[in-house]
Amino acid sequence: MTEFPKEFWWGAATSAYQIEGSPLADGAGVSNWHRFSHEPGHIQGGDTGDVACDHYRRWREDVDIMSGLGLTAYRLSLSWSRILPQGTGAVNERGLDFYRSLIDGLLEQSIEPFVTLFHWDYPAALDDRGGWQNPDSASWFAEYARVVVRALGDRVRYWTTMNEPWVVVDAGYLHGVHAPGVRDVRIAPWISLRLLRAHGDGVRALRTEGAKHVGLVVNLEPKDPASESPLDVSAAHRSDVYMNQQYLDAVMFGRYPEGMDEVFGDAWPRFSASDLEGISEPLDFLGINYYQRSVVRNDETALPPQAAPVRSPEKEYSDLGWEVYPDGLTRTLIWVRERYGDVPLYVTENGMALPEPVTLDVSILDDPRRVSYVRSHIAAVREAIRRGVDVRGYFVWSLLDNFEWACGRSKRFGIVHVDQDTQRRTLKTSALFYQDVIQSRGGRL
Ligand code: FCB
Repeated sequence: MTEFPKEFWWGAATSAYQIEGSPLADGAGVSNWHRFSHEPGHIQGGDTGDVACDHYRRWREDVDIMSGLGLTAYRLSLSWSRILPQGTGAVNERGLDFYRSLIDGLLEQSIEPFVTLFHWDYPAALDDRGGWQNPDSASWFAEYARVVVRALGDRVRYWTTMNEPWVVVDAGYLHGVHAPGVRDVRIAPWISLRLLRAHGDGVRALRTEGAKHVGLVVNLEPKDPASESPLDVSAAHRSDVYMNQQYLDAVMFGRYPEGMDEVFGDAWPRFSASDLEGISEPLDFLGINYYQRSVVRNDETALPPQAAPVRSPEKEYSDLGWEVYPDGLTRTLIWVRERYGDVPLYVTENGMALPEPVTLDVSILDDPRRVSYVRSHIAAVREAIRRGVDVRGYFVWSLLDNFEWACGRSKRFGIVHVDQDTQRRTLKTSALFYQDVIQSRGGRL
């Protein structure tokens, strides 16, 4: 077996709104997701994040679970509206105290926190001021970044500005299925630009306050055409530009990729180089979230990028309809390295939604398909490293069954089961499998 001398982080990931609950506790302001989930019709089953995994109150138990599994890292996000209830201005120390205690708890167990500033929950007060549509949104974000790093910078070494800007735009502003529920092909490209500018300002703010490891998390997936027809091949290419190249090209090259006008038609504003100024700050690392590859066909009736997913009966799909395709992770990591050069990478999310597991006995729940998913994707990371990609960590999504955005509680990603009525945590077989992997490999892959 190849030796990988480098330190390798073994982690699990979550995000604030998906697990914390108690959204208005201790002086927190209302978030856009709180508001969105309370409006009827947005979330499957009418679920909200009011309770979620009750992690706000049970975080000690959750940190003990992580420690028991042997995790060496934990990727979490902060709730902006707990810290700055109005989004800017007055700081709520009690919100910061929650994160101080949680992070101290992690450090006591030698678990390295990887902190994301913006994982989609956003102060509703800022949405009322136009949210990401407001040109001031980047400076609001930089203010938030400064407040956070001043408070937590003595404890946190790894920072990411935001999680998956592509989803924020695609789901929140094009399809309208995530907060704030906008469906507007002309607004979407502007949100892309505004998020990227916030990212750039955020990176500078973090560094000015002394942050050492600063990155961005994006979600990527190989896009393959459903057939060899030129129309399907172009649809796959548009999908690749739209999802994989759009944000990374802007951040790594300081320009949008060729083909954005094919994706958006005349709704594409043709941003100039000066619009993108300040976005491509060199990064210390990139976080890659990988779940699936997608096979697409041309569909002129669809929203940008005018492509529709195609499924085939012989393939395996998750409970969310996502194809299980571990080779795609190797391909993706190699693609990032070839296109963007040798920036350190972390797989910051990877996991599988499955229905409720079978009860083995009272204390363990069996989820063999997730075991095999995690096993094959770790092997895919190893293969990428063997082929020269600098990957430094793997985070399973997710530690806990949680609030899966528009799907509410109906989709379960946890390696630890959470009973929605009692909040009881129970390890699934995948958690035990992961624990074994970590134990047998130590700080290596
Ligand atoms: C990612 C999100 C994460 C979770 C997983 C399933 O896109 O970052 O919050 O919803 O998908």
